[in-house]
Amino acid sequence: MAFIEIEHLEKTFQSKSGDTEALRDVSFSIEKGEIFGVIGLSGAGKSTLVRCINLLERPTAGRVIIDGGDMMQLSDRELRARRRGIGMIFQHFNLLMQRSVLDNVCFPMEIAGLGKKEARQKAMTYLEQVELSDKARAYPAQLSGGQKQRVAIARVLASKPEILLCDEATSALDPQTTQSILQLLKHINEEYRITMIVITHEMRVVQQICDRVAVLEYGRIVESGRTREVFDAPKTEAAKRLIYTHEYTGVEDEGSGI
Ligand SMILES: Nc1ncnc2c1ncn2[C@@H]1O[C@H](COP(=O)(O)OP(=O)(O)OP(=O)(O)O)[C@@H](O)[C@H]1O
Ligand SMILES: [Mg+2]
Repeated sequence: MAFIEIEHLEKTFQSKSGDTEALRDVSFSIEKGEIFGVIGLSGAGKSTLVRCINLLERPTAGRVIIDGGDMMQLSDRELRARRRGIGMIFQHFNLLMQRSVLDNVCFPMEIAGLGKKEARQKAMTYLEQVELSDKARAYPAQLSGGQKQRVAIARVLASKPEILLCDEATSALDPQTTQSILQLLKHINEEYRITMIVITHEMRVVQQICDRVAVLEYGRIVESGRTREVFDAPKTEAAKRLIYTHEYTGVEDEGSGI
């Protein structure tokens, strides 16, 4: 059995104006240490999928099995413990604005009951990992986007996750900063063997760090495989549209630079 098994996942949002089937019969599995990408247009269900994996969103049907354990069978207490092993980073960083960088990184360790001094010491080592020790006393508002994401990554490392869910983690960043964050993610994937799910609408993100990729369209996985294979020869219209549109944009960018 793989480290993460998603089986026939369904998520339907109900509202007065009608139901939205955000996920339809989604199944895939991820091996420990893998970086798995999920691509799809806006509204395809990418964020809903990651939120269902840590049960921030309760699936309507199907199973999420992590390391052999069915997430839906856990008691509230077990679920809270399990969630501590699942980190998440976002497009807009979600830092605590009224806390310094150091105190942001300390936060999960304080929650876990660590003493202030020990938490601070450990936080400094995580800040070194993300090359931000010189900003320990700064506040989030004083940082660039890339630096904010580094703080968020240091903070997530402090909770020692086995799994990291990245929802558009580089989408608010310029290409160069995106590169440095991707290198950092790759580094922590190798160093700590953290299994990663990378949700993005940026094809180059997937090309650079994902071992495998799934294409989501209207809540369904329409294609999946090794990144190289899917990008070299996309089979479905949905995958072609995502991958070739990206290439077209690349050509256009070059042209506009002349
Ligand atoms: N809490 C909610 N209540 C009702 N509908 C929702 C809710 N969350 C998401 N949806 C709907 O589910 C579908 C999938 O949304 P989701 O946010 O997962 O898409 P996405 O692929 O992450 O899009 P984006 O790239 O824009 O972030 C959309 O039609 C959305 O309107
Ligand atoms: Mg989203």
